[in-house]
Amino acid sequence: MELRLALLGFGNVNRALARLLLRKADALRAAHDLTLTVTGISTDSHGRCIDPAGIDLKAALDAYAERALERLHRGAPTPDTAAFLQAVPADLVVEATWMNPRTGQPATDLVRAALGRGLHVVTANKGPLAYAYRELSALARAKRLGFFFESTVMDGAPVHAFGREGLPVSVIRRIRGVLNSTTNSILTRLEQGVPFAEALQEMQAAGLAEADPSNDIDGWDSALKITVLANVHMGADLRPADVERTGIGGVTIEQVQAALKEGRRIKLLCEAWRDGEAVRARVAPVALPLDSPLAHVMRTSSAVTFEADTLTELTIIEGDSSPDTTAFGVLADIVNIARGRHLA
Ligand SMILES: NC(=O)c1ccc[n+]([C@@H]2O[C@H](COP(=O)([O-])OP(=O)(O)OC[C@H]3O[C@@H](n4cnc5c(N)ncnc54)[C@H](OP(=O)(O)O)[C@@H]3O)[C@@H](O)[C@H]2O)c1
Repeated sequence: MELRLALLGFGNVNRALARLLLRKADALRAAHDLTLTVTGISTDSHGRCIDPAGIDLKAALDAYAERALERLHRGAPTPDTAAFLQAVPADLVVEATWMNPRTGQPATDLVRAALGRGLHVVTANKGPLAYAYRELSALARAKRLGFFFESTVMDGAPVHAFGREGLPVSVIRRIRGVLNSTTNSILTRLEQGVPFAEALQEMQAAGLAEADPSNDIDGWDSALKITVLANVHMGADLRPADVERTGIGGVTIEQVQAALKEGRRIKLLCEAWRDGEAVRARVAPVALPLDSPLAHVMRTSSAVTFEADTLTELTIIEGDSSPDTTAFGVLADIVNIARGRHLA
């Protein structure tokens, strides 16, 4: 079987995916009889290209570095990503672009347009799920298309696949997680006596925190992630603004060290729980007892605990993440769509 892929965005994630596709091409053929051919790539400022015969991914990685993806283009040029999306000969769109965290756009419109055109979608972007999960998943179902998004929470760890396939006929009662690596790394460094500003600078110097880190520090990224988990796995219809939110800006070395002396560790905890018919969610620094698995997630690791009416408590912990692990989550989604798991 051949699946033709159109890549929206060629940043850290989709470039890591291109390298992974090169590395795993033989294994995909051997294990799944699957050939993945990239027929189009669209970016914001590095150009776009379409080649119905398939794009040489090594050449694309070089052309991106020179902001010259156009040189791989065959056929009439497309003026923007919306036009590219209508023109590209593809079966599946991998959406790994940017979004405004307060609106989920333009990623949500791009996903809607791809599904509307009858293409499967894999996205690494939280925006479409935090702002339009019900609508987009209903659209995909109606058209019998795959709409998978493993990398939106905990990168390549199979969190959504577990919720989707590992908990049949179950009611998830509560989800808790430590899901943001910038804040978790800062809290780890505070425990070691490193001041907040210095810990943040270290993260920025290592490329692990944004120049403007407020989305992480203020708990907004965590609010997006718990919204995604609640909407996808608990049937909620929350928006990030519905999440009660306290960031880690007020947490001090003294507080984290005092908590440790009492056998607790402060974590930026994301939580969604049932409250009668409703689902509520909150993000806040919480001093967790050291016998909680979530208390042991350090630096750039992350974890989520599901509580259901069938399994009391199950925790998935992922070690250090990177664009490579995110790309693996995207590849797993593509393989699962090729295997028809979206129809299961
Ligand atoms: N990095 C990770 O490990 C990670 C983990 C989980 C989820 N994610 C999510 O995955 C997505 C991509 O992350 P990333 O790290 O790859 O970001 P990135 O390096 O900033 O890349 C974003 C890409 O999107 C392109 N782009 C922006 N607006 C576009 C538009 N309207 N049409 C087409 N392309 C557009 C950019 O073009 P230019 O190249 O021209 O700027 C760039 O290629 C984000 O939503 C992020 O939250 C990332």
